[in-house]
Amino acid sequence: MPPPPRLHSLLLTLLVSALFLPVCFAAGDDGLVFSNPQLRQAYIALQAWKSAILSDPFNFTANWNGPDVCSYGGVYCAPSPANPSVTVVAGIDLNHADIAGYLPPELGLLTDLALFHINSNRFCGTVPTTFKNLTLLYELDLSNNRFVGVFPTVVLSLPALKYLDLRFNEFEGSVPTKLFDKNLDAVFLNDNRFQFGIPSNLGNSPVSVLVMANNNLGGCIPASIGKMGRTLNEIILMNDNLTGCLPVQIGMLTELTVFDVSFNNLQGPLPAAIAGMRSVEQLNVAHNRLTGVVPDGVCRLPRLQNFTYSFNYFTGEAPSCAAAGGKVFDDRKNCIVGKVNQRSAPECSSRDARPVDCRKLQCGSSSPAPPSQPPTTTPTPVPSKQPSPSPPTSSTSPSTKTHPPPPPASGILPPTANSPPHTKTPPPTPSHSLPPSPPQSSHLPSPPSSSHPLPPPPPSSGTSHVLLSHGSCNKTGSLPSAFTV
Ligand SMILES: *[C@@H]1O[C@H](CO)[C@@H](O)[C@H](O)[C@H]1NC(C)=O
Ligand SMILES: *[C@@H]1O[C@H](CO)[C@@H](O)[C@H](O)[C@H]1NC(C)=O
Ligand SMILES: *[C@@H]1O[C@H](CO)[C@@H](O)[C@H](O)[C@H]1NC(C)=O
Ligand SMILES: *[C@@H]1O[C@H](CO)[C@@H](O)[C@H](O)[C@H]1NC(C)=O
Ligand SMILES: *[C@@H]1O[C@H](CO)[C@@H](O)[C@H](O)[C@H]1NC(C)=O
Repeated sequence: MPPPPRLHSLLLTLLVSALFLPVCFAAGDDGLVFSNPQLRQAYIALQAWKSAILSDPFNFTANWNGPDVCSYGGVYCAPSPANPSVTVVAGIDLNHADIAGYLPPELGLLTDLALFHINSNRFCGTVPTTFKNLTLLYELDLSNNRFVGVFPTVVLSLPALKYLDLRFNEFEGSVPTKLFDKNLDAVFLNDNRFQFGIPSNLGNSPVSVLVMANNNLGGCIPASIGKMGRTLNEIILMNDNLTGCLPVQIGMLTELTVFDVSFNNLQGPLPAAIAGMRSVEQLNVAHNRLTGVVPDGVCRLPRLQNFTYSFNYFTGEAPSCAAAGGKVFDDRKNCIVGKVNQRSAPECSSRDARPVDCRKLQCGSSSPAPPSQPPTTTPTPVPSKQPSPSPPTSSTSPSTKTHPPPPPASGILPPTANSPPHTKTPPPTPSHSLPPSPPQSSHLPSPPSSSHPLPPPPPSSGTSHVLLSHGSCNKTGSLPSAFTV
């Protein structure tokens, strides 16, 4: 029996409204209306994140209510690159919010994100594997938080990623080989707990800035570094427990402006090939066990401003190194005859002072090279406060976000004003959550968004977050009850 005509028209009405539902932006089960499905997904992600936030002392997320996610603090919307008529969440910027919490897996729903900046917060736990969904992500800044565990390998699957900043966290284990096969422009891994050497494919990386200072990497500087000649602008490997000799291939780094391998256990001579670093301005090999004579070509480098080779075992220096002429040459605490402020005679005849045969030093990338000499009793000096790249500073908005120089050609972001690669600008007055300024290196890589480097964070600051120990946050975000102050 056919249905009565009235039912027919009801069915037709239902069918027609169903067809028009997406166009009409109909309310979902929750009664909320969104102008497109992406914004609904973003709402789900951001509400999940808000639930995973346990402290927000500056109320950055206080207005994260309701369907208008584009009005949420720190959330930036833009036309979708795939379809400019659709507005999507393209950026998150919660820099310097001092928020405590964790990253929930729902953040994988923010599939249109190009920028994710949460530096200088108290986010803990790990990076959700659902980040693999963020296929447009271009800049990821997780610096100065409390992330733990192994290197977040999910970032290696992000096809658009150019800027990776993991500095000042508690990441541990090895630096993955694949990192250097990715087409990244800047990588900051400093002040973590990475170990097990610098992967030997280092030279595959097209980065302009690479900072791995203040880890415990060990091992040698891979000879493949020479392949970075056309792209590498700054490399900072200070205080990484590196051994072996400086590879002669560093002389191929013709665009390099900053080379810092200070506070390691490097041995052997300063290769005369360094004279090939024709752009270098800041050269720091201090606090190693280098021997031999500082070659003339190094001190004559045309752009050189500051060459620090103090606290080694050099027995001589070319006359050009002594003739300062506006340049800073720091040759203190070596074994240079006739110079003041050198090491004592016993130190200069100690085992550390003896030249080594670099050809005999093994340089595996993942296992530290055994020294050709028996271990010495002289402890490696370690600076108490490491001048190294500071946590980045907050940016005004993703659209004005700057990149480390040189600027990558970006189809996503408008051109931006870049900071100089290293700045002599004095640090700004510390912001609310940061400690007093430690001594600053003169060659700090620019923080991503400011020419004013901020001081590194404290091991624990004087405020309430001292109570949140690094291990106390797990993926569930559970925190000790003490975390209420
Ligand atoms: C944040 O909001 C709470 C509650 O409304 C208020 O007591 C506090 O003063 C606010 N904090 C700041 C830094 O505005
Ligand atoms: C990944 O993104 C798609 C939409 O593009 C979404 O349907 C899916 O749920 C997301 N997966 C995760 C794990 O967030
Ligand atoms: C030269 O570089 C060293 C090492 O980075 C730094 O400590 C020193 O302050 C610099 N000197 C000048 C005058 O810039
Ligand atoms: C440096 O690496 C060696 C292994 O080569 C290790 O035994 C030593 O403990 C490391 N130094 C520090 C300070 O961790
Ligand atoms: C997370 O921490 C809570 C409270 O400390 C604990 O009950 C829970 O078992 C932990 N979960 C994991 C996966 O470690």
